[in-house]
Amino acid sequence: MTEAVRGVYARNRQQGHAAWCGCDYDFVCPSMGTYPFQWFWDSCFHAIVLSHFDVERARTELGSLLRNQLPDGFIAHVTFWQRERFEALLSTYSIAYRTPYLSDCIQPPLLAEAVAAAAQGDGADGFLADLAPRVRRYYDWLHRVRDPDGDGLIATLQPDESGLDHTPKYDAYLGIARCEPAEFTAAWERVAVPYAGAARDPLRMFALDRFIVEDVLVNTIYAENQRVLADLLERVGDGAGARELRARGDTTAAALVAKCYDERAGLFFDLAGARESMLRVNTVSSLMPIVLPDLPPSIVSTLVRHLMDTSEYAATFPVPSVAMNEPTFLAPSADSKLVFRGPSWMNTNWYISRGLRRHGRADLARTIEDRSATLVERGGFREFYDPTTGAGFGAHDFSWSGLALAMLAIGERRSD
Ligand code: GLC
Repeated sequence: MTEAVRGVYARNRQQGHAAWCGCDYDFVCPSMGTYPFQWFWDSCFHAIVLSHFDVERARTELGSLLRNQLPDGFIAHVTFWQRERFEALLSTYSIAYRTPYLSDCIQPPLLAEAVAAAAQGDGADGFLADLAPRVRRYYDWLHRVRDPDGDGLIATLQPDESGLDHTPKYDAYLGIARCEPAEFTAAWERVAVPYAGAARDPLRMFALDRFIVEDVLVNTIYAENQRVLADLLERVGDGAGARELRARGDTTAAALVAKCYDERAGLFFDLAGARESMLRVNTVSSLMPIVLPDLPPSIVSTLVRHLMDTSEYAATFPVPSVAMNEPTFLAPSADSKLVFRGPSWMNTNWYISRGLRRHGRADLARTIEDRSATLVERGGFREFYDPTTGAGFGAHDFSWSGLALAMLAIGERRSD
Protein backbone atom coordinates (compact mmCIF):
# COMPACT_ATOMS: atom_id res chain seq x y z
CA MET A 1 0.00 0.00 0.00
CA THR A 2 2.81 2.42 0.88
CA GLU A 3 4.43 1.90 -2.53
CA ALA A 4 1.12 2.41 -4.33
CA VAL A 5 0.47 5.65 -2.41
CA ARG A 6 4.02 6.85 -3.13
CA GLY A 7 3.30 6.33 -6.83
CA VAL A 8 0.10 8.40 -6.83
CA TYR A 9 1.74 11.13 -4.71
CA ALA A 10 4.62 11.31 -7.19
CA ARG A 11 2.29 11.50 -10.20
CA ASN A 12 0.09 14.18 -8.60
CA ARG A 13 2.96 16.29 -7.25
CA GLN A 14 2.97 19.86 -8.55
CA GLN A 15 6.17 21.84 -8.16
CA GLY A 16 7.17 25.17 -9.60
CA HIS A 17 7.33 28.93 -9.21
CA ALA A 18 4.24 31.13 -9.32
CA ALA A 19 4.98 34.53 -10.82
CA TRP A 20 1.65 35.91 -9.53
CA CYS A 21 2.82 35.77 -5.90
CA GLY A 22 6.56 35.34 -6.37
CA CYS A 23 6.50 32.03 -4.43
CA ASP A 24 7.55 28.46 -5.07
CA TYR A 25 4.97 25.73 -4.65
CA ASP A 26 5.18 22.01 -3.97
CA PHE A 27 1.96 20.12 -3.24
CA VAL A 28 -0.07 17.06 -4.20
CA CYS A 29 -3.18 17.85 -6.23
CA PRO A 30 -6.34 15.76 -5.75
CA SER A 31 -6.30 14.36 -9.32
CA MET A 32 -4.57 15.55 -12.49
CA GLY A 33 -7.61 14.94 -14.69
CA THR A 34 -10.19 16.96 -12.78
CA TYR A 35 -8.57 18.77 -9.85
CA PRO A 36 -5.02 19.93 -10.65
CA PHE A 37 -4.95 22.77 -8.06
CA GLN A 38 -4.34 22.87 -4.30
CA TRP A 39 -7.52 22.23 -2.30
CA PHE A 40 -7.59 23.01 1.42
CA TRP A 41 -9.02 19.88 3.01
CA ASP A 42 -7.51 17.57 0.38
CA SER A 43 -4.10 19.02 1.17
CA CYS A 44 -4.61 18.45 4.90
CA PHE A 45 -5.49 14.80 4.18
CA HIS A 46 -2.45 14.55 1.87
CA ALA A 47 -0.17 15.83 4.64
CA ILE A 48 -1.63 13.23 7.02
CA VAL A 49 -0.97 10.48 4.47
CA LEU A 50 2.52 11.80 3.67
CA SER A 51 3.40 11.84 7.37
CA HIS A 52 3.32 8.03 7.18
CA PHE A 53 6.25 7.82 4.75
CA ASP A 54 7.77 11.26 4.09
CA VAL A 55 7.31 13.76 6.88
CA GLU A 56 9.41 16.38 5.07
CA ARG A 57 6.96 16.39 2.19
CA ALA A 58 4.05 16.58 4.63
CA ARG A 59 5.61 19.82 5.89
CA THR A 60 6.19 21.15 2.38
CA GLU A 61 2.56 20.42 1.49
CA LEU A 62 1.38 22.51 4.45
CA GLY A 63 3.94 25.23 3.72
CA SER A 64 2.42 25.65 0.26
CA LEU A 65 -1.09 25.64 1.72
CA LEU A 66 -0.23 28.42 4.16
CA ARG A 67 1.85 30.50 1.74
CA ASN A 68 -1.12 32.60 0.63
CA GLN A 69 -2.87 32.93 3.97
CA LEU A 70 -4.31 36.44 4.17
CA PRO A 71 -3.19 38.79 6.95
CA ASP A 72 -6.54 38.39 8.75
CA GLY A 73 -6.02 34.60 8.96
CA PHE A 74 -8.28 33.40 6.11
CA ILE A 75 -7.02 30.51 3.94
CA ALA A 76 -8.70 29.91 0.57
CA HIS A 77 -10.30 26.57 -0.17
CA VAL A 78 -8.47 26.47 -3.52
CA THR A 79 -5.16 28.03 -4.54
CA PHE A 80 -4.94 28.12 -8.34
CA TRP A 81 -1.14 28.01 -8.41
CA GLN A 82 -0.71 27.08 -12.07
CA ARG A 83 -3.99 28.60 -13.25
CA GLU A 84 -2.77 29.53 -16.74
CA ARG A 85 -2.19 25.89 -17.66
CA PHE A 86 -5.80 24.91 -16.93
CA GLU A 87 -8.06 27.78 -18.05
CA ALA A 88 -10.34 25.44 -20.05
CA LEU A 89 -10.96 23.26 -16.99
CA LEU A 90 -11.68 26.30 -14.81
CA SER A 91 -14.59 27.31 -17.01
CA THR A 92 -16.39 24.13 -15.85
CA TYR A 93 -16.16 24.98 -12.11
CA SER A 94 -18.65 26.96 -10.01
CA ILE A 95 -16.23 28.94 -7.85
CA ALA A 96 -16.37 32.18 -5.89
CA TYR A 97 -13.06 34.00 -6.27
CA ARG A 98 -11.24 36.27 -3.83
CA THR A 99 -8.53 36.92 -6.47
CA PRO A 100 -7.94 35.16 -9.79
CA TYR A 101 -5.65 32.77 -7.89
CA LEU A 102 -7.56 32.26 -4.64
CA SER A 103 -11.11 31.14 -4.00
CA ASP A 104 -13.24 32.99 -1.46
CA CYS A 105 -14.52 30.18 0.68
CA ILE A 106 -13.52 27.70 3.35
CA GLN A 107 -13.47 23.93 3.65
CA PRO A 108 -13.70 21.69 6.74
CA PRO A 109 -10.98 22.98 9.09
CA LEU A 110 -8.65 20.04 9.70
CA LEU A 111 -5.48 22.11 9.44
CA ALA A 112 -4.45 21.55 13.08
CA GLU A 113 -4.69 17.75 12.70
CA ALA A 114 -2.57 17.93 9.54
CA VAL A 115 0.06 20.08 11.27
CA ALA A 116 0.09 17.69 14.25
CA ALA A 117 0.73 14.76 11.90
CA ALA A 118 3.64 16.59 10.27
CA ALA A 119 5.08 17.81 13.60
CA GLN A 120 6.89 14.62 14.52
CA GLY A 121 10.46 13.41 14.15
CA ASP A 122 13.54 15.50 13.39
CA GLY A 123 12.93 19.21 12.98
CA ALA A 124 9.42 19.03 14.43
CA ASP A 125 10.01 21.80 16.97
CA GLY A 126 11.20 24.35 14.42
CA PHE A 127 8.36 23.45 12.05
CA LEU A 128 5.80 23.82 14.81
CA ALA A 129 7.23 27.09 16.16
CA ASP A 130 6.95 28.52 12.64
CA LEU A 131 3.44 27.27 11.89
CA ALA A 132 1.60 27.42 15.22
CA PRO A 133 0.93 31.20 15.20
CA ARG A 134 -0.35 31.03 11.64
CA VAL A 135 -2.61 28.09 12.39
CA ARG A 136 -3.91 29.98 15.43
CA ARG A 137 -4.70 32.99 13.22
CA TYR A 138 -6.79 30.72 10.96
CA TYR A 139 -8.91 29.36 13.83
CA ASP A 140 -9.25 32.87 15.26
CA TRP A 141 -10.61 34.00 11.88
CA LEU A 142 -13.20 31.18 11.89
CA HIS A 143 -14.19 32.06 15.47
CA ARG A 144 -14.45 35.81 14.72
CA VAL A 145 -16.02 35.78 11.26
CA ARG A 146 -17.99 32.53 10.98
CA ASP A 147 -19.70 32.33 14.35
CA PRO A 148 -21.64 35.60 14.55
CA ASP A 149 -24.24 34.18 16.98
CA GLY A 150 -21.44 33.09 19.31
CA ASP A 151 -22.84 29.60 19.95
CA GLY A 152 -19.54 27.84 19.23
CA LEU A 153 -20.75 26.48 15.86
CA ILE A 154 -19.28 28.04 12.72
CA ALA A 155 -21.45 28.51 9.65
CA THR A 156 -20.83 27.68 6.02
CA LEU A 157 -22.17 30.28 3.60
CA GLN A 158 -22.38 28.17 0.43
CA PRO A 159 -22.74 24.43 -0.17
CA ASP A 160 -19.19 23.77 -1.38
CA GLU A 161 -17.78 25.05 1.94
CA SER A 162 -18.63 21.77 3.66
CA GLY A 163 -16.66 19.85 1.02
CA LEU A 164 -19.83 17.76 0.51
CA ASP A 165 -20.84 19.81 -2.53
CA HIS A 166 -24.00 18.03 -3.74
CA THR A 167 -25.10 16.25 -0.55
CA PRO A 168 -28.88 15.71 -0.44
CA LYS A 169 -29.03 17.22 3.04
CA TYR A 170 -29.21 20.66 1.35
CA ASP A 171 -31.74 19.74 -1.39
CA ALA A 172 -34.88 21.12 0.27
CA TYR A 173 -33.10 24.18 1.67
CA LEU A 174 -31.63 24.99 -1.77
CA GLY A 175 -34.89 24.26 -3.60
CA ILE A 176 -33.41 21.38 -5.60
CA ALA A 177 -36.20 19.28 -7.08
CA ARG A 178 -34.38 17.03 -9.55
CA CYS A 179 -31.00 15.42 -9.19
CA GLU A 180 -29.42 16.97 -12.29
CA PRO A 181 -26.20 18.97 -12.58
CA ALA A 182 -28.01 22.00 -14.06
CA GLU A 183 -30.22 22.20 -10.95
CA PHE A 184 -27.15 22.40 -8.74
CA THR A 185 -25.51 25.09 -10.86
CA ALA A 186 -28.73 27.14 -10.74
CA ALA A 187 -28.99 26.66 -6.96
CA TRP A 188 -25.36 27.69 -6.52
CA GLU A 189 -26.03 30.84 -8.50
CA ARG A 190 -29.08 31.68 -6.40
CA VAL A 191 -26.62 31.93 -3.51
CA ALA A 192 -23.51 33.27 -5.25
CA VAL A 193 -25.11 36.07 -7.28
CA PRO A 194 -26.60 37.96 -4.30
CA TYR A 195 -23.30 37.44 -2.46
CA ALA A 196 -21.43 39.10 -5.33
CA GLY A 197 -23.91 41.99 -5.01
CA ALA A 198 -22.93 42.23 -1.34
CA ALA A 199 -19.24 42.38 -2.34
CA ARG A 200 -18.84 39.02 -0.53
CA ASP A 201 -18.64 40.84 2.78
CA PRO A 202 -19.34 38.10 5.38
CA LEU A 203 -21.56 40.36 7.52
CA ARG A 204 -23.73 41.20 4.54
CA MET A 205 -23.74 37.56 3.38
CA PHE A 206 -25.08 36.49 6.79
CA ALA A 207 -27.68 39.30 6.64
CA LEU A 208 -28.93 38.04 3.25
CA ASP A 209 -29.76 34.66 4.86
CA ARG A 210 -29.46 32.76 1.55
CA PHE A 211 -27.36 29.85 2.78
CA ILE A 212 -26.26 29.71 6.39
CA VAL A 213 -25.56 26.18 7.62
CA GLU A 214 -24.15 25.15 10.97
CA ASP A 215 -22.93 21.89 9.50
CA VAL A 216 -22.39 18.83 11.69
CA LEU A 217 -19.42 17.45 9.72
CA VAL A 218 -17.71 20.86 9.61
CA ASN A 219 -18.29 21.51 13.31
CA THR A 220 -17.21 18.06 14.44
CA ILE A 221 -13.94 18.67 12.63
CA TYR A 222 -13.82 22.19 14.09
CA ALA A 223 -14.28 20.89 17.66
CA GLU A 224 -11.61 18.22 17.23
CA ASN A 225 -9.17 20.63 15.62
CA GLN A 226 -9.49 23.37 18.21
CA ARG A 227 -8.51 20.74 20.78
CA VAL A 228 -5.61 19.52 18.64
CA LEU A 229 -4.49 23.13 18.22
CA ALA A 230 -4.62 23.52 22.02
CA ASP A 231 -2.13 20.63 22.29
CA LEU A 232 0.10 22.21 19.64
CA LEU A 233 0.06 25.55 21.47
CA GLU A 234 0.98 23.75 24.68
CA ARG A 235 3.96 22.24 22.86
CA VAL A 236 5.23 25.68 21.80
CA GLY A 237 4.83 27.01 25.35
CA ASP A 238 1.67 29.04 24.85
CA GLY A 239 -0.30 27.84 27.89
CA ALA A 240 -2.83 30.68 27.76
CA GLY A 241 -3.54 30.04 24.07
CA ALA A 242 -3.91 26.33 24.78
CA ARG A 243 -6.48 26.98 27.52
CA GLU A 244 -8.42 29.32 25.28
CA LEU A 245 -8.56 26.87 22.36
CA ARG A 246 -9.45 23.97 24.63
CA ALA A 247 -12.36 25.97 26.03
CA ARG A 248 -13.50 26.87 22.51
CA GLY A 249 -13.30 23.22 21.45
CA ASP A 250 -15.40 22.21 24.47
CA THR A 251 -18.00 24.86 23.59
CA THR A 252 -18.26 23.58 20.01
CA ALA A 253 -18.58 19.95 21.13
CA ALA A 254 -21.25 20.83 23.71
CA ALA A 255 -23.19 22.93 21.18
CA LEU A 256 -23.26 20.03 18.72
CA VAL A 257 -24.93 17.85 21.33
CA ALA A 258 -27.23 20.56 22.67
CA LYS A 259 -28.39 22.01 19.35
CA CYS A 260 -27.83 19.44 16.57
CA TYR A 261 -28.77 16.12 18.19
CA ASP A 262 -32.30 14.96 17.41
CA GLU A 263 -33.32 12.55 20.18
CA ARG A 264 -36.18 11.05 18.19
CA ALA A 265 -34.10 10.13 15.16
CA GLY A 266 -30.99 9.43 17.23
CA LEU A 267 -28.97 11.40 14.68
CA PHE A 268 -27.22 14.77 14.40
CA PHE A 269 -28.60 17.24 11.86
CA ASP A 270 -27.31 20.53 10.42
CA LEU A 271 -29.01 23.81 11.39
CA ALA A 272 -30.06 26.01 8.47
CA GLY A 273 -30.77 29.70 8.17
CA ALA A 274 -30.91 32.45 10.75
CA ARG A 275 -33.80 30.46 12.34
CA GLU A 276 -31.61 27.37 12.67
CA SER A 277 -34.08 24.81 11.27
CA MET A 278 -32.86 21.21 11.35
CA LEU A 279 -32.10 19.63 7.96
CA ARG A 280 -33.45 16.17 8.74
CA VAL A 281 -31.70 14.05 6.13
CA ASN A 282 -29.78 10.97 7.25
CA THR A 283 -26.26 11.31 5.83
CA VAL A 284 -22.80 10.34 7.04
CA SER A 285 -22.58 13.83 8.62
CA SER A 286 -25.18 12.66 11.11
CA LEU A 287 -22.68 10.09 12.45
CA MET A 288 -19.57 12.26 12.46
CA PRO A 289 -19.79 13.35 16.13
CA ILE A 290 -18.69 9.82 17.02
CA VAL A 291 -15.23 11.38 16.58
CA LEU A 292 -15.77 13.41 19.79
CA PRO A 293 -14.21 11.56 22.73
CA ASP A 294 -16.61 13.19 25.22
CA LEU A 295 -19.81 12.22 23.39
CA PRO A 296 -22.29 10.81 25.97
CA PRO A 297 -22.19 6.97 25.87
CA SER A 298 -25.93 6.66 25.18
CA ILE A 299 -25.52 8.76 22.02
CA VAL A 300 -22.48 6.71 21.00
CA SER A 301 -24.54 3.50 21.24
CA THR A 302 -27.32 5.04 19.19
CA LEU A 303 -24.92 6.12 16.43
CA VAL A 304 -23.32 2.67 16.47
CA ARG A 305 -26.79 1.15 15.97
CA HIS A 306 -27.26 3.26 12.83
CA LEU A 307 -23.82 2.22 11.60
CA MET A 308 -24.64 -1.46 12.12
CA ASP A 309 -28.07 -1.26 10.50
CA THR A 310 -27.94 -3.02 7.12
CA SER A 311 -30.75 -0.84 5.75
CA GLU A 312 -28.77 2.33 6.54
CA TYR A 313 -24.97 2.19 6.75
CA ALA A 314 -23.79 -1.41 7.15
CA ALA A 315 -23.09 -1.92 3.45
CA THR A 316 -20.58 -4.50 2.22
CA PHE A 317 -18.19 -1.58 1.68
CA PRO A 318 -19.07 0.99 4.34
CA VAL A 319 -19.63 3.83 5.07
CA PRO A 320 -22.08 5.15 2.45
CA SER A 321 -22.28 8.95 2.38
CA VAL A 322 -26.09 8.79 2.57
CA ALA A 323 -28.14 6.20 4.49
CA MET A 324 -29.18 3.58 1.94
CA ASN A 325 -32.84 3.87 2.97
CA GLU A 326 -32.97 7.65 2.38
CA PRO A 327 -35.12 8.34 -0.73
CA THR A 328 -32.29 10.50 -2.12
CA PHE A 329 -29.63 7.77 -1.79
CA LEU A 330 -28.01 7.27 -5.19
CA ALA A 331 -25.55 4.54 -6.13
CA PRO A 332 -22.72 5.92 -8.29
CA SER A 333 -22.66 5.56 -12.05
CA ALA A 334 -19.95 6.13 -14.63
CA ASP A 335 -21.30 9.48 -15.77
CA SER A 336 -22.19 10.76 -12.29
CA LYS A 337 -20.77 14.20 -11.64
CA LEU A 338 -22.62 14.78 -8.38
CA VAL A 339 -20.71 13.96 -5.21
CA PHE A 340 -21.65 12.77 -1.71
CA ARG A 341 -25.07 11.43 -2.65
CA GLY A 342 -24.47 7.80 -1.66
CA PRO A 343 -21.01 6.34 -2.42
CA SER A 344 -18.42 5.54 0.27
CA TRP A 345 -15.46 7.91 0.67
CA MET A 346 -12.08 7.35 2.31
CA ASN A 347 -12.00 10.62 4.22
CA THR A 348 -15.21 10.05 6.16
CA ASN A 349 -14.17 6.41 6.69
CA TRP A 350 -10.92 7.63 8.26
CA TYR A 351 -12.84 9.84 10.69
CA ILE A 352 -15.56 7.35 11.57
CA SER A 353 -13.15 4.47 12.16
CA ARG A 354 -11.04 6.63 14.48
CA GLY A 355 -14.19 7.69 16.32
CA LEU A 356 -15.18 4.05 16.80
CA ARG A 357 -11.74 3.25 18.25
CA ARG A 358 -12.02 6.16 20.66
CA HIS A 359 -15.22 4.65 22.00
CA GLY A 360 -13.83 1.14 22.36
CA ARG A 361 -15.31 -0.27 19.14
CA ALA A 362 -12.07 -1.39 17.48
CA ASP A 363 -14.00 -4.36 16.07
CA LEU A 364 -16.24 -2.14 13.96
CA ALA A 365 -13.38 0.22 13.14
CA ARG A 366 -11.36 -2.68 11.78
CA THR A 367 -14.15 -3.67 9.39
CA ILE A 368 -14.20 -0.16 7.93
CA GLU A 369 -10.38 -0.02 7.75
CA ASP A 370 -10.04 -3.44 6.12
CA ARG A 371 -12.82 -2.90 3.60
CA SER A 372 -11.36 0.51 2.75
CA ALA A 373 -8.03 -1.11 1.96
CA THR A 374 -9.81 -3.76 -0.13
CA LEU A 375 -11.53 -1.04 -2.16
CA VAL A 376 -8.17 0.49 -3.05
CA GLU A 377 -6.49 -2.87 -3.69
CA ARG A 378 -9.26 -3.86 -6.10
CA GLY A 379 -10.16 -0.61 -7.78
CA GLY A 380 -7.21 1.72 -7.26
CA PHE A 381 -7.31 5.23 -5.82
CA ARG A 382 -10.69 6.39 -7.04
CA GLU A 383 -12.66 9.39 -5.80
CA PHE A 384 -15.52 7.29 -4.35
CA TYR A 385 -16.80 3.72 -4.34
CA ASP A 386 -20.08 1.84 -4.68
CA PRO A 387 -20.97 0.68 -1.15
CA THR A 388 -22.56 -2.54 -2.47
CA THR A 389 -20.26 -3.70 -5.26
CA GLY A 390 -17.07 -1.89 -4.25
CA ALA A 391 -16.55 -0.54 -7.79
CA GLY A 392 -14.59 2.71 -7.98
CA PHE A 393 -15.97 5.87 -9.60
CA GLY A 394 -15.15 9.53 -10.18
CA ALA A 395 -11.61 10.87 -10.51
CA HIS A 396 -8.71 8.45 -11.09
CA ASP A 397 -5.53 8.53 -9.00
CA PHE A 398 -7.45 10.46 -6.36
CA SER A 399 -4.95 11.42 -3.68
CA TRP A 400 -6.97 11.46 -0.45
CA SER A 401 -7.96 7.84 -1.06
CA GLY A 402 -4.38 7.26 0.14
CA LEU A 403 -5.99 7.58 3.60
CA ALA A 404 -6.46 3.80 3.25
CA LEU A 405 -2.79 3.70 4.25
CA ALA A 406 -3.41 5.82 7.35
CA MET A 407 -6.31 3.52 8.30
CA LEU A 408 -4.14 0.42 7.95
CA ALA A 409 -1.44 2.04 10.07
CA ILE A 410 -3.92 2.84 12.85
CA GLY A 411 -5.21 -0.72 12.70
CA GLU A 412 -1.71 -2.07 13.13
CA ARG A 413 -0.99 0.14 16.15
CA ARG A 414 -4.38 -0.83 17.61
CA SER A 415 -4.62 2.56 19.27
CA ASP A 416 -5.76 6.19 18.74
C1 GLC B 1 -15.02 18.10 -4.88
C2 GLC B 1 -15.37 17.72 -3.44
C3 GLC B 1 -14.52 18.49 -2.45
C4 GLC B 1 -13.05 18.29 -2.78
C5 GLC B 1 -12.74 18.62 -4.25
C6 GLC B 1 -11.31 18.25 -4.65
O1 GLC B 1 -15.34 19.42 -5.13
O2 GLC B 1 -16.73 17.96 -3.19
O3 GLC B 1 -14.76 18.07 -1.15
O4 GLC B 1 -12.26 19.06 -1.95
O5 GLC B 1 -13.62 17.92 -5.09
O6 GLC B 1 -11.08 16.92 -4.38
